Amino acid sequence: MSSPISVAVIGCGYAAEVHLPAICSLKQARLTALADSDSTRLEAMANRYGIERRHLDWRELIHDPANQVIAVFTPPHLHFEMTREAVRAGKHVMVEKPLVADLAEADRLIEETSSSRAKITIGYNLRFHRQIRQLRRLIQDGALGNIEFVRGVATSPTALRENFPDYRRKRELGGGVVIELAVHYYDLWEHLLDTRLQHVTAMSRSAEGDDITAFVAGRMASGALVSAEFSLKATEQHEIEVYGDRARAKASLYRFDGLRVFALGTHEGGIGHRLRHLYDAAMRLPEALWTAPAGGVFLNSFRQQWRHFLDCIRYDRPVHPDLTDGRRSLAIALAAVRAADSGRTMQLQEDGQ
Ligand SMILES: NC(=O)c1ccc[n+]([C@@H]2O[C@H](COP(=O)([O-])OP(=O)(O)OC[C@H]3O[C@@H](n4cnc5c(N)ncnc54)[C@H](O)[C@@H]3O)[C@@H](O)[C@H]2O)c1
Repeated sequence: MSSPISVAVIGCGYAAEVHLPAICSLKQARLTALADSDSTRLEAMANRYGIERRHLDWRELIHDPANQVIAVFTPPHLHFEMTREAVRAGKHVMVEKPLVADLAEADRLIEETSSSRAKITIGYNLRFHRQIRQLRRLIQDGALGNIEFVRGVATSPTALRENFPDYRRKRELGGGVVIELAVHYYDLWEHLLDTRLQHVTAMSRSAEGDDITAFVAGRMASGALVSAEFSLKATEQHEIEVYGDRARAKASLYRFDGLRVFALGTHEGGIGHRLRHLYDAAMRLPEALWTAPAGGVFLNSFRQQWRHFLDCIRYDRPVHPDLTDGRRSLAIALAAVRAADSGRTMQLQEDGQ
């Protein structure tokens, strides 16, 4: 087996909390260094993972030849500079979502990195969630028929916590759920249905910060309607449901047994469904126990994304999601903000303007 790929991380906040267990659980990776401008956070994280190389200045970490991959887990308005410098230094990059703060930065990043051999990917871990992969397969195989609509909900009480990060309160720093959280769904809608979002509209309410709770809806090029609710002031939930003209499928992303499919003419309360669900849950139990120490089925999505990314580096394969995907979902997010402000529906061009 070839030697592990060295991964160095900038930003020791919440994103690092969910990524580091994934990185450290993979034999293909070796966590080599950490950077954070906050020395308390840096020391705490480095001590927890036994990391010697610690940097208050992220540039030192990028220019250390010992590091092959740079993970950028800082607030969105810092992504552009850190990603650009890492690629210039010849590193591969995993940058968290949203890609950058505005479309001009996204375009510059795409242009400046176009001739580089570096692999660059965005932290859309939901694409790698087991149930999302199953859902995508069901849609592609036609098991659900023509898709009429998709609905989702993603909530947590993050805004009520003491350590609610400042950037998440401010749209101009990439915060607010219409940008920072819903951007996962803009990517997911297009990834799942394999078609573009053509129209988007949104409503939001602000309190502890901009867009603490929001509703976003749209129409795909296929005609399918999509919608989701997001909140940072509600109990944790993460569900996405796809309704086709042959069947509907529901993915409950925090549950190891969360994928359920209902054919036309059946309903959730039916005894057949309940027995099948019990059987499926029993069959999934060993896997649930196996993934529990690494955070269960949801956190396993981060592990699967890292595995994909590292394999793409090792075997020089195209990586997904890429910068174009990151730009595309950012463009939708910015259009959704304009829709929330104006009360209008925004039309998206093919290039996402
Ligand atoms: N994929 C996911 O599910 C997921 C989950 C959480 C966060 N995120 C994304 O990850 C990114 C970070 O979010 P977070 O919630 O971890 O934020 P956070 O505030 O918890 O952590 C960010 C860290 O970056 C550090 N930092 C800030 N400026 C720095 C600088 N100049 N140099 C070095 N370090 C610096 C801060 O001190 C902090 O420790 C955001 O883009 C967010 O959208 C993604």
